[in-house]
Amino acid sequence: MEQATTPHLWHSAPYSTHPSTLNSPPAPLKGPQSIPRDHYDVIIIGGGAAGLFCAARAAEGGRSVLVLDHANKVGKKILMSGGGRCNFTHLQASPANFRSANPHFCRSALARFSPYEFLARVEAAGIPWVEKTEGQLFCRDSAKDLLAMLLRDCAQAGVDIAVESPITQVQLGQPFVLHSQNRRLSADKLVVATGGLSIPKMGATGFGYDLARQAGHTLLPTRAGLVPLTLSGRPAEDFEGLAGVSTPVIVSTPDAAYKEALLITHRGLSGPAILQLSSHWALGSPIQINWLPGVSEEELLQAKKTEPKLHLERWLGRSLPDRLAQRLCALSAGDAPLHQLRDATLRERLHRWQHWTVQPSGTEGYRTAEVTEGGVCTQTISSRSFESQLQPGLHFIGEVLDVTGELGGYNFQWAWASAAACAEAL
Ligand code: FDA
Repeated sequence: MEQATTPHLWHSAPYSTHPSTLNSPPAPLKGPQSIPRDHYDVIIIGGGAAGLFCAARAAEGGRSVLVLDHANKVGKKILMSGGGRCNFTHLQASPANFRSANPHFCRSALARFSPYEFLARVEAAGIPWVEKTEGQLFCRDSAKDLLAMLLRDCAQAGVDIAVESPITQVQLGQPFVLHSQNRRLSADKLVVATGGLSIPKMGATGFGYDLARQAGHTLLPTRAGLVPLTLSGRPAEDFEGLAGVSTPVIVSTPDAAYKEALLITHRGLSGPAILQLSSHWALGSPIQINWLPGVSEEELLQAKKTEPKLHLERWLGRSLPDRLAQRLCALSAGDAPLHQLRDATLRERLHRWQHWTVQPSGTEGYRTAEVTEGGVCTQTISSRSFESQLQPGLHFIGEVLDVTGELGGYNFQWAWASAAACAEAL
């Protein structure tokens, strides 16, 4: 495979000639009545990243597998992820990048299925990829390539996939019996891969949580994660008219800080820095923004000496977009040439811009959240096989579990790793 010679290099695998890319994957079956048989070794509920990957691997291992999804298409979140190019893994993914009430749970699966293993699969499929920010791998052209790979793998391994197949009832036991629009299906093993609650428009439901409850599992409280924060009242007025402005900042709460880009939106604050911080933010508490990371008092006082007629706003504009510099200046007692401002005043202004306190009013919620924090408690799930310890043959994988990754490809890596471990056990 091709090697990177510089960081952030575009990688181009032999895309147009690789045999696995020549045929587009077959369309999934539509509706439960189109499913060709009544009994499978494995039924997987949810055709997202975890479900499809698990299906292909279990079928490659000789199992008969059916994937059931209630939506009209599978893999919708893959297609919308990473701005349409899917940040499919992070090369440095480790347990430290995941939040869970049971922080050790993710160790075994992450150790047994590394980002390099998934990358090898992507390269074998001839999909060109690119490393953006260090370690974050994206499809070079489109997330469609990745979904097509998963669907081709499923087709080659003989997986049946049925969309528009809502499940009305599940009877737990041997076999598991599922009812879907007057169709009775059964399986020896049942895998729940229904994801979290984020983006209901894309098919997210709490079905996996209901099933977990039915099997006696504990559910940990869920909340929207990796989500924009909203502003109202005074803070919203402060940023009015600045929607679309983006700048690198450090944002922090008492227990976390992120140095990344912040984006001002019509509703509040977003961008990678805010999405990351949202997981640490508690309703009612403020966040702090350092608009000028890395800028020192000495720099400002030196500018006063060497360029005394330079206006403070222009000086600020050297580090920030002009419109934001104007606004921050206006909100901090206005503009003036540097020589007219005392050193103590300049120090005080800089301190304010580096410790800007904002009180968000809330989050945009599941409507736009990238992930759901919390979910099925992992204390009664095997970290090796992802099998329920309460209901033999029932498995949970992916985001439905109480394991949430940071921004940057970690959540897909969790989907692949948990699916691979589960498939091995199936
Ligand atoms: P996923 O949500 O992918 O799949 C669940 C499937 O179950 C869906 O197909 C759904 O229709 C189906 N389902 C739900 N209820 C059902 C029911 N009752 N019956 C039958 N089927 C049902 N992560 C990352 O690592 N890199 C990234 O670039 C991004 N980008 C990103 C952007 C946006 C906008 C979002 C919303 C999310 C991301 N993520 C991400 C997060 C990532 O998409 C997410 O963690 C994985 O898709 C989770 O994979 P799962 O397979 O667990 O669930």
